[in-house]
Amino acid sequence: MKLLAVVPLLGWLIGSPALATTIAMEDQSQLQMSTAAQSANTPFQPPHENELPDNAYGKLVMQGYALFVDTKRLAPDFVGNGLNCSNCHLDQGRLPNSSPLWGAYPMYPAYRKKNDKVNTFAERLQGCFQFSMNGGTPPAADSHEITALSVYAYWLASKAPLGVELAGRGYPEVPQPTKGYNLAQGAAVYKDQCALCHGAEGQGQKVGESYVMPPLWGKDSYNWGAGMHRINTAASFIKHNMPLGKGGSLTDQQAWDVAAYVNRHERPQDPRLVEGSVEKTRLKFHANDGVNLYGQTVDGVLIGQGIR
Ligand code: HEC
Ligand code: HEC
Repeated sequence: MKLLAVVPLLGWLIGSPALATTIAMEDQSQLQMSTAAQSANTPFQPPHENELPDNAYGKLVMQGYALFVDTKRLAPDFVGNGLNCSNCHLDQGRLPNSSPLWGAYPMYPAYRKKNDKVNTFAERLQGCFQFSMNGGTPPAADSHEITALSVYAYWLASKAPLGVELAGRGYPEVPQPTKGYNLAQGAAVYKDQCALCHGAEGQGQKVGESYVMPPLWGKDSYNWGAGMHRINTAASFIKHNMPLGKGGSLTDQQAWDVAAYVNRHERPQDPRLVEGSVEKTRLKFHANDGVNLYGQTVDGVLIGQGIR
């Protein structure tokens, strides 16, 4: 961790702030899942806390759990917004269709055709720190944070078969409605069904320093490089999990409309920003990354300018 601290300095010395952050994983890659795995209806059961052994392993699992649900407070150096991992991976990373950790762990290392690279589980976690948590340089692969989170995920997955895609992994895809999405309808859904908790301006709700309702846009939300900025990914998350406690109640159309409305709002810049240009960044990273509004113009305003 000490060593990483010199990296920003180095970037500054050679006059290129773009080098200040090394990107661990190119993106929060969209999961490609078979429909067979999505449709099975007996979800995998992760172990209960009372099954944890009372030893060093059990202790590390509990530390990983704590980091997962209280990330902002316990890993402040690596979180640049107001979120915790469990805000998007609900029920402590246990809930099916909410990208549960037990669905993820057995699927790594994963080969990605897109960039002809193998991504390790540690790199996947680092990616969530850099984009979803807007955290800058992520914890090192052998850091306490990555180790504890990996051990927590391993424990949740410890009775799962290796390399088998389990039902409930990821946020099962909700196909785009034939008529596309509608931002005005999305605004109406937001006002009716989301604003009560997430705030009229998507700002969330705080008690003291901590958010009790996470922000959906603005400086304390996920950045423009996060998987959730894709309208298709947000629609899938929202359809299965929101409004909180009423997952599955929105139509596919409503989920897409409100996902687009949320993701037309400004949030922290994509840390991969190419030469300070939104257009260059769009071409390199967003043009082929699902459905998104980054670098496009809505009501005469360029989306993706970022916010501090
Ligand atoms: C009853 C309160 C409530 C309502 C209503 C609600 N949410 Fe949420 N939402 C939450 C909470 C709480 C979380 C974090 C869950 C956790 O940490 O367990 C969350 C998480 C989220 C997240 C991921 C975290 C983030 O900040 O980006 C998104 C996106 C989201 N909600 C969108 C919506 C949308 C869209 C609607 C309306 C269709 C909605 N929510 C309605 C309470 C609510
Ligand atoms: C703003 C929402 C958000 C937050 C906060 C978040 N993630 Fe994620 N995470 C995602 C999305 C979106 C994906 C990609 C899922 C997809 O494409 O279906 C993902 C994927 C993952 C995966 C891979 C899942 C799989 O099945 O391959 C892991 C592991 C993961 N996140 C862990 C974390 C950890 C650890 C943290 C906290 C440091 C975190 N996430 C914070 C949204 C979030």
